[in-house]
Amino acid sequence: MNSFSLVSNKVNSINGEIEVPGDKSISHRAVILSMLSEGQTVIENYLSSEDIYRTVEISRLLGADIYLKNEIMEIHGKGLNGLIEPKKILNFGNSGTSIRLFMGILAAQNFESVLTGDKSLRKRPMERVAEPLRAMGADIETNNGNLPVKIKNINRLSNLQYKLDIPSAQIKSAILLASLFTDGKTVIKTDTKTRDHTEIMLKDFSSTIEVDEKTISIVGGKIVSPEYIYIPGDLSSASFLILAGLISKDSELKIKNVGLNPTRMGFIEIMKLMNADIEINLDNRFNTNERIGSIVVRSSNLKGIDVPKKLIASAIDEIPLVFLAAACAEGSTSIKNAKELRYKESDRIKAMVKNLRSLSIDVNEYDDGARITGGTIKGANLDSFDDHRVAMTCLLASCKSETPVTVRNCININTSFPIFKEIMNSIGMNINEA
Ligand code: S3P
Repeated sequence: MNSFSLVSNKVNSINGEIEVPGDKSISHRAVILSMLSEGQTVIENYLSSEDIYRTVEISRLLGADIYLKNEIMEIHGKGLNGLIEPKKILNFGNSGTSIRLFMGILAAQNFESVLTGDKSLRKRPMERVAEPLRAMGADIETNNGNLPVKIKNINRLSNLQYKLDIPSAQIKSAILLASLFTDGKTVIKTDTKTRDHTEIMLKDFSSTIEVDEKTISIVGGKIVSPEYIYIPGDLSSASFLILAGLISKDSELKIKNVGLNPTRMGFIEIMKLMNADIEINLDNRFNTNERIGSIVVRSSNLKGIDVPKKLIASAIDEIPLVFLAAACAEGSTSIKNAKELRYKESDRIKAMVKNLRSLSIDVNEYDDGARITGGTIKGANLDSFDDHRVAMTCLLASCKSETPVTVRNCININTSFPIFKEIMNSIGMNINEA
């Protein structure tokens, strides 16, 4: 299946009014917190994708009762003390968020577990999560920093005062989940704000958590289900539609019911600095603590910029799209302070530099980013480097190319956005199996 290729043909214009599937980060957290809570939870508009089904499968192996019916998920909470020892090795597939969040939970159990994943996940760093959990008393062995990870049984974790030097919501969330199993208060300090869905949802589950710009304090103890969770559309998925609308001619597109959490707005802010015509309207009908609304984009003449350091963390999953936007812009764009991209599903700096060069674009690679000079994109045969976001980004290059763009190894799109091809084609793209 690994050679599954998609070919994207010349685009005339992008138009329509559309919704994208539910947010991946929020869907993971909804399943996990519901499993750990007291009470029953109904989750609406969850993301139906491979990564989320990994979280569901692992939760079931730990004893959770999860029912999927008519696009609604119903979870009967186990409480903090109700998980059972899994009968087999826990395989997290491609899902970095699942494994890191579950490390925080499994570190606190009185049973052992072994965690692994697919080829891409096995290359990714796990010591960054193991280290703070060990400081809480966890007994965790990594395989030279990678998978498999072995977590031994312990009696009880203790709380932690921790300065988070890597800007990572996954590490932060692993510590927050582990801290539920402690007595007393855990404090995390960060200089860079990362996505705060765990903090928001912990409040929804009546956890005692306080958040300000640089400090999060949480008191351990039981969490209680809010009974109902609505998951907004995924802004990271919407970003593919946004860029397609901006770089295609004669285009106007409205995306509705999408998450607009301020910690995820970096891509939109970067696009605005690049002269994008984007309108945001908040929608308060949903009565959730996550911000939701609609986005309207129109064709724009993008201009090269130096991407501000302060926008990198809140655009982290969209930086491959910033590479492509830069290739379509007038002048050159500098992306720096983005070394974290090298530790994602692929080394996204290397993957995008290689693919943009194949598309005839001039790129200087830096250790922590790249300088990209806008130019004429010429269709080419590219590789996804086993990475869903690289695959989807590169397929959008056909919005600016006269000749088709083919991307090999696109099967990973199913991890985050299984209906990508159908949605993109419904707004004017022409993507087919090669
Ligand atoms: C995520 C956090 C980010 C992001 C990932 C989803 C999350 O990873 O890249 O796609 O849901 O917490 P890091 O924590 O490694 O930055």
